[in-house]
Amino acid sequence: MRISVPPFDDVDVAAVDFLDSGFYADGDPHALWARLRADDPVHWFDPGDGREPFWVVTRHAEVTRVLKNHEEFSSRRGTMLCIIDLSMPDIASDQMMPDTDPPRHGQLRDPLNRALTRQAVGRQEERMREVVHNLIRPGLDGEVFDLARAALMFPMAFTGQIMGMPSENWPRMSELTTMTIAYDDPDFASGPPKATLRQAHHELFAFFNREISRRDRSAPADDLIGILLSMSLEESPLTDEQIMLNCYALLLGANVTTPHAVCTAVRMLAEDPERYRRLCETPALRDTCLEEVLRWSSPASHFMRYAQRDVELAGRKIEAGQPVSVWLGSANRDERVFRDPYRFDIARRPNRHVAFGVGPHYCIGAGLARLGLRIFLSELTRLVEKVEVVGETAHLRSNFVAGYKSMPVRFTPRPGVGPATIAPGGPR
Ligand code: HEM
Repeated sequence: MRISVPPFDDVDVAAVDFLDSGFYADGDPHALWARLRADDPVHWFDPGDGREPFWVVTRHAEVTRVLKNHEEFSSRRGTMLCIIDLSMPDIASDQMMPDTDPPRHGQLRDPLNRALTRQAVGRQEERMREVVHNLIRPGLDGEVFDLARAALMFPMAFTGQIMGMPSENWPRMSELTTMTIAYDDPDFASGPPKATLRQAHHELFAFFNREISRRDRSAPADDLIGILLSMSLEESPLTDEQIMLNCYALLLGANVTTPHAVCTAVRMLAEDPERYRRLCETPALRDTCLEEVLRWSSPASHFMRYAQRDVELAGRKIEAGQPVSVWLGSANRDERVFRDPYRFDIARRPNRHVAFGVGPHYCIGAGLARLGLRIFLSELTRLVEKVEVVGETAHLRSNFVAGYKSMPVRFTPRPGVGPATIAPGGPR
């Protein structure tokens, strides 16, 4: 998604198709959201062509209220627009953590959450550093390389490990997860959107199925699949289908979001060499910088809920059963909450961004993603003197993910640093 700043061109809200993934790749969503926040923060979008209409919520206060309040707004009918877009039945309802409401949701979330706490995730630090090195290494010869392509594998390499998926499947699994959210992007589609989505689901579930069948349920391993195998829902062990659906949620959650935070970090640091120098000289800024990268990039663009009853939101009456989409990238530019929201400020504090959501479904992988981004910033600044984006970037066609599919970059390594510096087992 193009990340634009004011002054914006005028936007004809009535002409926007909120489902059209092309709009998010080539249009100007930030201009649209600024207009909606000012004039119509709870907007009714009716495509008028038989596709289901839905609400579009763009201010921080209402986005937060919708996400926090499952008694008014349920996740059980799905949380992504593509479900509406492709009129798919939500077979995951009440089975997959994101598509479940409390208290059932807690039964699926709590055991996985314990394995993903800050402390548990902290143990992954050494492994994460290796994964970060694999991402940075191709740039350490000073040649141009496509960071967006390389970054697609970044989350797969740590999530694949923590889940316990065999590493030979990781490259294909990474492609398949991107296909599920960029099903009409010519660089990822393998036919029409529905067929692409079907193929991606089919192959991913076959990978999960193979792995589950291989496992011994009586001696579950110490990884996320092992935890799923030992979990219960309403006092019955999870079925294979429930395990596969939750594997899917974990992998999708990680793979389709994290790469775009990495690319945004490099882009924003390349844009202003003084900003990069400040970050290199002040390690204490890494944490505020990474939160600003999350606010700025907002990789997960929207989430959906369905009204459980009639609800009034910012003066609009939402009827029971109606779908409601909340736009995180818009909430993260809300001038009511963020001072100077269109300024990328590596020292921003406070930073109440909602890039990881809020409420019961708050991103379960936030600790893992933060660890990865923190190590990325720390290793980048340690090894690289100068970062540049050296050509045209291309945006992913997706109404769900704000991301890049191509970003040519050049790293100028620090004196004495080269690919061998961080070769596996090489000098540190
Ligand atoms: C920069 C990276 C990431 C971003 C921006 C992000 C964003 C989000 C957001 C906004 C939600 C809330 C969804 C909702 O309210 O319905 C969420 C939930 C979730 N995320 Fe992440 N995520 C990231 C990384 C990860 C990682 C690394 C994992 C894997 C471990 C992950 C797995 C999940 C799962 C399984 C959920 C559903 C949690 C639930 O329903 O309780 N995410 N993520």
